[in-house]
Amino acid sequence: MSDTYFEEEDFDGQFNGRTLLRILGLVRPHWRFVAGFMTAIGIVSFLESYFTLLTKRIIDEAIIPQNAEALREIISIYAVIVVVFAVMVFTFIYLAGVLGHRVQYDLRKTLFNHLQKLSFSYFDRTPVGWIMSRLTSDTERIAELVTWGMLDVTWAIMNITISLIFMLTINWQLALVVCALLPLLLWVAVWFKQRIIVQYRLARKINSKITGSYNENITGVRVIKALGREDKNLEEFGILTSDMFGASYRAAWLSALFLPVVQLLTAVALGAIIVSGGLQAQTGGMTIGGIQAFIAYVTFMLWPIQDIARIYAAMQQAIASAERTFSLIDTEPEVVNRPEAVEVETIAGDIEFDHVEFYYEADKPVLRDFSLTVKQGETIALVGPTGAGKSTIVNLICRFYEPKHGVIRINGHDYMDMTLHSIQSRIGMVLQTPHLFSGTVRENIRYGRLEATDAEVEDAAQLAGAHDFIVTLDDGYDTQVGEGGNMLSVGQKQLISLARAVLAKPEIFIMDEATSSVDTLTEALIQRGMEQLMQRSTSFVIAHRLSTIKRADRIIVLKDGQIDEMGSHSQLMQQRGHYYRLYTKQFREEREQQYDPYGNVLAPEVAMGD
Ligand SMILES: Nc1ncnc2c1ncn2[C@@H]1O[C@H](COP(=O)(O)OP(=O)(O)OP(=O)(O)O)[C@@H](O)[C@H]1O
Ligand SMILES: [Mg+2]
Repeated sequence: MSDTYFEEEDFDGQFNGRTLLRILGLVRPHWRFVAGFMTAIGIVSFLESYFTLLTKRIIDEAIIPQNAEALREIISIYAVIVVVFAVMVFTFIYLAGVLGHRVQYDLRKTLFNHLQKLSFSYFDRTPVGWIMSRLTSDTERIAELVTWGMLDVTWAIMNITISLIFMLTINWQLALVVCALLPLLLWVAVWFKQRIIVQYRLARKINSKITGSYNENITGVRVIKALGREDKNLEEFGILTSDMFGASYRAAWLSALFLPVVQLLTAVALGAIIVSGGLQAQTGGMTIGGIQAFIAYVTFMLWPIQDIARIYAAMQQAIASAERTFSLIDTEPEVVNRPEAVEVETIAGDIEFDHVEFYYEADKPVLRDFSLTVKQGETIALVGPTGAGKSTIVNLICRFYEPKHGVIRINGHDYMDMTLHSIQSRIGMVLQTPHLFSGTVRENIRYGRLEATDAEVEDAAQLAGAHDFIVTLDDGYDTQVGEGGNMLSVGQKQLISLARAVLAKPEIFIMDEATSSVDTLTEALIQRGMEQLMQRSTSFVIAHRLSTIKRADRIIVLKDGQIDEMGSHSQLMQQRGHYYRLYTKQFREEREQQYDPYGNVLAPEVAMGD
């Protein structure tokens, strides 16, 4: 588990104006909701302050002078306002909910669409967990900012302003005293806020590391168990959680201290109001109801101030979320259609690598000056040690990556002049780690050609040699394969991937054989399925199996990204070079496997290849 894995970028704590504007841009399509929701909050804030004023009137005009007429009048106003108030509260909560969902939906859709366009290279350098967080928690936080965040801010500003205006109308001198106290309270709030935020941010950062660790520990559970890494992982996990505990503990301590301090200051302010209001009441400058209203307004105004730390922290987090999310949206896919690219009808034809150079990381060349021409219909076997560049060659053919220098031509045309779709939709491939999607076997085979009928799906499975094992599954073609096809063995996944490739009728077929061993029966089935495809298309097979190697039209032995040897099986055997050694070694190993431990020959009919 590396330290950099899954680390959140530091947020500099500055409100980036551009990011804020861009967030506001997200709500623009839903401006009607925003307008309705802001109006409702405005009315709610006004009515909240007005209630206090009505209470003052009840005390001063009805209770003290014992005026029943005035009491009835004020109470009826009260009743009307309560109804309006309730309707407005309902309206803004409802509108905020709808707005939040819409913004989140838009964002997720944009992100998901964009992710489908991004190139392999992006996924090489970006951990899945990081992307998942952008899609889930970040979109949620942004949606919260544009709804509840906006609500908090609007409500706070309205509350303070309206309360001050009402106070000024009741007694302007006393209102000015309150005005003078406001900056002090704000200062205290900001002081605490900064310290609390630092701790929370620390806790959050550790938390994302913990999430990353969960992710690695769950996805890699088999390896962890196999290697007996449980204790070591638990220890690393323990360190992270205790760091997290420390930061959360400090944040909790500061948060707990904050409220009593603000309350103390409030008590002082209220004391000042009672004393000075009381003195003024004696001289007739202030009514009892007026003092009561003042106390209510001050308490009222303090809510948003007490809340400022939370609002500010939430806003910062949401802005940091937005910056990360926008950075994903702004990432340009590296492999894109050129403006003049044409959609071609077919990619059948020769494939030519013309002095191709390629690297994943600039200082580590993988292919150097690689040239090769493959005739249409030919079957090429790529062999060579691990890391030689076999998968890289097929990745380039599929245009998952593009050459850094040199040209790849299909049917005589630079493949960069064709659209990605026209190339990729005509290539059938079975990858080194076959991937199935959660769903049924049938859905997985049909994945690349949705319009295929059930009969076509089954024919493809027959041809690929997958049919026989599929019908033995509990629900046959309707068996759920589990997430990533986890309910099936690697060999079975390859057979299904083969059927998927057969169904798609590819013009180029690519098979990156899994190195993990499959049982001999499955191996024979895979072999048969591959042959079906190899007969129909130009094929590249990254071969580990001797039989595949032997039957290929041409075998290319790669070493350090260059062609070491090339020719048919018999030619290479005659050369007695690298291939010869590789083959005889593998053949010996293979033959040894045919004997049981007691030395009995189990498969005496296996004869020497050449
Ligand atoms: N996505 C990637 N990012 C960075 N480097 C990579 C990436 N994929 C492969 N490489 C590097 O490029 C080189 C060639 O890798 P490639 O996957 O083509 O080898 P291979 O011949 O298919 O090996 P194997 O038999 O193990 O599948 C290796 O050194 C490998 O580490
Ligand atoms: Mg490989």
